[in-house]
Amino acid sequence: MRWQVLLFLSVFCLSLALGQVSYSIPEEMPKGSIVGNIAHDLGLDLKRLKSGRARVYTGDNVEYIGLNKDRGVLLIQERTDREALCGETTPCALHFQLILENPMELFRVTVEITDINDNSPSFTNPEKRFEISESAVIGSKFVLDKAIDSDIGSNGLQRYSLSPTDNFALKLENDADGTKKVEMVLQKALDREKQAHIPLLLTAIDGGEPQMSGTMQIFVTVLDANDNAPTFVKPQYRAKILENSPKGTSVTTVSASDKDIGSNGEVFYAISTSKRQLSELFKIDRNTGEITLIGELDFEKANNYIMGVEVVDSGGLSDSTKVIVDVIDVNDNKPNINTVSKSESILEDSPPNTVIAMLSVNDPDSDNNGKVECVINDHIPFKIQPALNGFYTLVTEVTLDREIATQYNITVTCSDEGVPSLSSSVTLTLQISDVNDNPPVFERSSYEAYIVENNTPGLSIFTVKATDSDWNQNARVSYILEDSSVNGVPVSSYVSVSADSGVIHAVHSFDYEQIKDFQFRVKAQDGGSPPLSSNVTVKIMIQDQNDNAPQVLYPVQTGGSLVAEMVPRSADVGYLVTKVVAVDVDSGQNAWLSYKLQKATDRALFEVGLQNGEVRTIRQVTDKDAVKQRLTVIVEDNGQPSRSATVIVNVAVADSFPEVLSEFTDFTHDKEYNENLTFYLVLALAVVSFLFITCVVVIISVKIYRWRQSRILYHSNLPVIPYYPPRYSDTLGTGTLPHVYNYEVCRTTDSRKSDCKFGRAGSQNVLIMDPSSTGTMQRIQSEKSILDEPDSPLEPLRVDGLKKFRERQNTLAIGFMFLI
Ligand SMILES: *[C@@H]1O[C@H](CO)[C@@H](O)[C@H](O)[C@H]1NC(C)=O
Ligand SMILES: *[C@@H]1O[C@H](CO)[C@@H](O)[C@H](O)[C@H]1NC(C)=O
Repeated sequence: MRWQVLLFLSVFCLSLALGQVSYSIPEEMPKGSIVGNIAHDLGLDLKRLKSGRARVYTGDNVEYIGLNKDRGVLLIQERTDREALCGETTPCALHFQLILENPMELFRVTVEITDINDNSPSFTNPEKRFEISESAVIGSKFVLDKAIDSDIGSNGLQRYSLSPTDNFALKLENDADGTKKVEMVLQKALDREKQAHIPLLLTAIDGGEPQMSGTMQIFVTVLDANDNAPTFVKPQYRAKILENSPKGTSVTTVSASDKDIGSNGEVFYAISTSKRQLSELFKIDRNTGEITLIGELDFEKANNYIMGVEVVDSGGLSDSTKVIVDVIDVNDNKPNINTVSKSESILEDSPPNTVIAMLSVNDPDSDNNGKVECVINDHIPFKIQPALNGFYTLVTEVTLDREIATQYNITVTCSDEGVPSLSSSVTLTLQISDVNDNPPVFERSSYEAYIVENNTPGLSIFTVKATDSDWNQNARVSYILEDSSVNGVPVSSYVSVSADSGVIHAVHSFDYEQIKDFQFRVKAQDGGSPPLSSNVTVKIMIQDQNDNAPQVLYPVQTGGSLVAEMVPRSADVGYLVTKVVAVDVDSGQNAWLSYKLQKATDRALFEVGLQNGEVRTIRQVTDKDAVKQRLTVIVEDNGQPSRSATVIVNVAVADSFPEVLSEFTDFTHDKEYNENLTFYLVLALAVVSFLFITCVVVIISVKIYRWRQSRILYHSNLPVIPYYPPRYSDTLGTGTLPHVYNYEVCRTTDSRKSDCKFGRAGSQNVLIMDPSSTGTMQRIQSEKSILDEPDSPLEPLRVDGLKKFRERQNTLAIGFMFLI
């Protein structure tokens, strides 16, 4: 429609100018499109056109428009691109002639080609790249490419747009050639860290209808600038490390980030703390930030470390952080045991809970590693008690006894509660001091000892021994004879005890016949203060020795008297002539007597009973037998060696006493012998008298001396008592010391029987003819007269068992006195 309007307008204009016609068509009309009805416009008949062979003349130029003679119209013959035909020239017109022949006519035709918006603005390069530092200042300009639009006028390039517009704004400036200079201006600072690449789109827009546009990609690469300081990931680091960690152990790794890249993002770590101790303990890797241990830690010195760590990037920007290293305690310390005070020894009677040592125990480790418990070795009577602040006291648990153990090794072991636990121990040696708490103890509860009589005085009988389990002086035992008396005589006159050795000595020679046994007490006393003692009974038995020969009691063998037994001639075989009675004061075997006939006038007439000493006839007495028969009987005891006594038994074989007398006067034949004897007796009397006087002098001297000696002894307080034999008396002042022991004599009728018969009061039918009373025969009424004087120094022998003789009334003792 617009074309039509335009056409009409052109036609009107051309009509005014003869011979000339113009048309105006838009470019790019399709081929065959009618440009204009030229026939009409020129007022030509179609026939004319044919006849005139009308044609379009363009010279050498391309015939864009052709003529349709049939219809008398101009048609588009070639594509008409205004931009190609005219470029920027305006207006753009095709000029050609229409030529007619017959007559030749020439018409000038102008076809103006008007612009249509058939070109969009375009950029030469589809993209453009920029590298802009992020530090670029605001206002910086960056020149962009211009866009080209071949269309003109309003169809030409009208404006630009840039998107997005966050950082950049578009700025157009008139250029010298009239075009616009396109620039983008930095409006807002770049941040590589936010956006390292910014894509932008520049759009060029024309003014056509419809609008057309062209675009160009702009790539902005933001270059890094060191605008970011490194920052530690954490404001504070905390690490734990065992105190026994070896050198080189990694403690922790600090890390800082720097948003910058490249060298701007390179960071270096350093320990900033200036404390020398820290730099000797820890090292930081400059590049990795790993902190390693280079020294030795000790929880007990420091349980944590705080160090500053700094990070610097290559641009000098830095950050710092704090690293706290907690040292973890390791049970590396044994408990320390210190003996604060200790007793070297205590008395055994110390009461329980006596403190013997005080210990101080500590463990520098912490918590359980430093908790300490102390024990002592088992089976000792001590205990350990905790006191305040790691102090322990070692006390006795019970009362001690040095006699059980004199010394204790007390091992105190203290262990901590660490895992594994460490322990240490000390050994204290404690001596137990003795207290005199044990009396001496005799090895036996009583002692019996035997000593053979007739010992040498001073003989050691045996030894008592007492032990004392105490120590040293408290165990030094001394032996003391306890005062007592034996038969009224102090025991110290019998025995003495060696104070040191306990050896018991006989003070004098013992006589079994005098004393058979005795007992006394020995006290053992220790040297403690106060001393303790115990005593023991010692019984001494004196053993018999065959030291006494048998003594013949009957027939009485008096020096001057003669006793004869009378045997009537009518006596039968086995007639009991007499009985030899003998005793032996020894005992047992030593007193077992046997009788034998040693010599006899007529051996065939008499025999002696081996055991009973009975003298009997063994054949009929005849007249031929001599009146005077003399038998020698030997009495032997059974001791080893045996002792014996002989007795002469005179037997008168006669029927009448005168016969006997006449026979026995024969004894006067010995007169000559007796005269000699008289001389000797006188001599003996003189000697005896001299000896008597000498003895008296000696005894008096000795008495005086002993009296003085006893005074000295009394003052010296020694337990030595001078020995006086018991019951010695200086009888008759003769200077001899006869035995006055009062002993019991067992006399037997049959020496095989050991029954003791004490003599009883009773008449004795024995006549004793004492030579001192010439011709008188004394009848011993009874032995009672002897026994009436129990302490009589005379022989207290009791004669018994002579009943047989008494019954027979035929035994006579005839004493003859021989006068000097
Ligand atoms: C105590 O120790 C000492 C020395 O080690 C040793 O001679 C002694 O026999 C010990 N005593 C006891 C009662 O174990
Ligand atoms: C002897 O020891 C006994 C106990 O064995 C005691 O009873 C007595 O008193 C002691 N005698 C003396 C004299 O010490």
